Amino acid sequence: MIADVLIKNASELVTVRGARGGPKTKQGMQDLGIIRNGAVAIEGAEIVAVGDTDEVLATIKQARTVIDATDRTVLPGFVDCHTHLVFGGSREDEFIQKIEGRSYLEIMQRNGGLFSTVEKTREALAFPRALMKRAQAFLDKMLAFGTTTAEIKTGYGLSTESEFGLLNIIAGLKESQPVDIVSTFLGAHAFPKEYKERKADYIQLVLGMLERVKAEGLAEYCDVFVEVGAFSPSEARTILEQAKKQGLKLKLHAGEFNDIGGAELGAELGAVSIDHLDYISERGMELMAEKKTVGVLLPGVPFHLMTNKYAPARKLIEAGVPIALATDFNPGSCPTLSMQMIIALACRQLKMTPAEAINAATINAAYALDRGDKVGSIEVGKKADIIVLDIPRHQQLPYWFGVNTVAKVVKNGVITYPP
Ligand code: NIG
Ligand code: FE
Repeated sequence: MIADVLIKNASELVTVRGARGGPKTKQGMQDLGIIRNGAVAIEGAEIVAVGDTDEVLATIKQARTVIDATDRTVLPGFVDCHTHLVFGGSREDEFIQKIEGRSYLEIMQRNGGLFSTVEKTREALAFPRALMKRAQAFLDKMLAFGTTTAEIKTGYGLSTESEFGLLNIIAGLKESQPVDIVSTFLGAHAFPKEYKERKADYIQLVLGMLERVKAEGLAEYCDVFVEVGAFSPSEARTILEQAKKQGLKLKLHAGEFNDIGGAELGAELGAVSIDHLDYISERGMELMAEKKTVGVLLPGVPFHLMTNKYAPARKLIEAGVPIALATDFNPGSCPTLSMQMIIALACRQLKMTPAEAINAATINAAYALDRGDKVGSIEVGKKADIIVLDIPRHQQLPYWFGVNTVAKVVKNGVITYPP
């Protein structure tokens, strides 16, 4: 048999296999399914053989392209399951205020923070092609850092016109660049200034937007920011229940700065994931474990905001909550495009082992997007989204931090990076 691409001699082929029908939990998160001197064969965009190099070479005699991965570690591409990638402007001035001691919520309450990005994004939407190009450039960098699937949320429009502008840009990104995109509607990111005194009216507006989102097929998920100064659990419930009726899957931002019951609500409503969880109750953890709701941890946020308050990852894992990791890429709380940086932070600040962090950034992140059967591991039948790292063992991935260890990215069976 002649393959299109053959990756051989990998010092560690980290398959991340073993999660069938659901994300990995507890001890399962320690298992990476490593094959030493491993090989992967690809046909078209699909993985057709995985194993020890000699074993794979016994069936695959030839390949059009051969990648020699001697002394290298091979991994499934990262799945960045939580980003706010389409926005106008940047917020380095606010970052400096934070260095000087002002808090995120304080800046937001003064109409800065998220609201300044809403203003800049609405302005930028007057030139959608330029905004889309900027988003494409971000995705190009993500790919170079090893991300092959990314979720993108709206939420910097907060009006019907601008939220749909963002949804259309996300739809355009699906067609115009190689990273696979999952679209999430986050019209309930904050109450826009115009509706500050008319919250019920804004909720009605969001409910109306949801109908159109579904009718136009522009999003797979609906997300709500459950937080003091954003949406209360009961406001979130109204929106999420309606989204569910429309056939959208659910995500929540909960416990970023305060625990106001978002985890309990999300688990009750059958959310696919609940994200942040820097603050979470014991009850919230129990319910999430029971429902197998993925907890998406975003350690880049407390790092960038300098709050020093990180999610209780060890307790969550012990409780049986499946954990995923993501960047939360956005201009306010986490301006990084690198899943490698997030893995490095997860090991240092969340005390996750390299194996747990890698499972969380690949297969469990794929489950956080309901794509655990298609991507997130190197197994026969899955999509050929594979990264080759210039390190001999996976333990070096979190160890070298702030550097890019990605030597090659194979996306849909094609060497896409370096270009
Ligand atoms: O996930 N918390 C809400 N949304 C983003 C930050 C948004 C912003 O500050 O622009 C987050 O942290
Ligand atoms: Fe977020």
